[in-house]
Amino acid sequence: MHDAVLSPTQFTEISWQEIHNALFTTMRIAINSVRYGCTEIFERRYSEEECLWGLSPSPLLIKKIEEVPVGKALDLGVGEGRNALFLALKGFHVTGIDVSPKSIEKFLDLAKERGLTVEGLVMDILDFKFSPDAYNLIVAANTLHFLKKEEVYEITSNIIRSIAPGGYVYIEDFTVNDPSYQNAKKKLEQIEENMFYSLKRSSYLYFFPHNELKEMFKDFEIKVYKEEIIIDTGHGESGPHEHGVAVLFAKIVDDARMKQKLTSEP
Ligand SMILES: C[S@@+](CC[C@H](N)C(=O)[O-])C[C@H]1O[C@@H](n2cnc3c(N)ncnc32)[C@H](O)[C@@H]1O
Repeated sequence: MHDAVLSPTQFTEISWQEIHNALFTTMRIAINSVRYGCTEIFERRYSEEECLWGLSPSPLLIKKIEEVPVGKALDLGVGEGRNALFLALKGFHVTGIDVSPKSIEKFLDLAKERGLTVEGLVMDILDFKFSPDAYNLIVAANTLHFLKKEEVYEITSNIIRSIAPGGYVYIEDFTVNDPSYQNAKKKLEQIEENMFYSLKRSSYLYFFPHNELKEMFKDFEIKVYKEEIIIDTGHGESGPHEHGVAVLFAKIVDDARMKQKLTSEP
């Protein structure tokens, strides 16, 4: 009978457990809002500037698009849609995802102006349900940079699962050779190697080290992989500026899919 009555120690333990759970829930909400925080800065910039990233598609995508079988394409962090609109023009059924409602609004408006049918989703790519074997092409241009390292790996793994047989991936993103990496080292809180937290952006910033992006897709047929310094004229208050980027264009092969399946099995 008395077993049902809690001793003061048991009561304390349960209370601490409850406090821990409550704190953990609060922390998860806080962490989510930190992740979504990067929306605010993009939202403001998308509203202020007519076209933040320009409308020129990525040069390598223009050069290589004929290799990709026309079908479904997914653009992660689509922005105003400079790549997604190009893909739609080429006949792809494009879905563009972005956390910024303003960017999706602009993307959909630009598509409408051009008589193109596209799908735009306002959501965090970390919450997107990647269907297996679904897309002929998945694009992520300068988006993964705003995730934590472990999230970059989570998205990469989803990309590999979600590419249809014979499909391709196109990724471009900032490397440790980007000038902002040195700035981040001086000014931002470093969370782990090559990963920082920016209070101003309320966002993580991840910089790819030499060859990491290529390694992530090592079981693919790598058509192009390069790391280079480019001059970006598409945006920025300070005019043309340099970026250190890695660019990957790769095709899935059956073996890659097998390996991915094996490693994701419990
Ligand atoms: C530098 S812009 C690049 C836009 C576009 N890909 C381009 O190359 O023109 C990065 C975009 O990623 C979006 N973004 C950042 N983190 C995201 C996330 N977790 N989920 C969805 N979109 C995200 C931002 O809102 C922004 O529109």
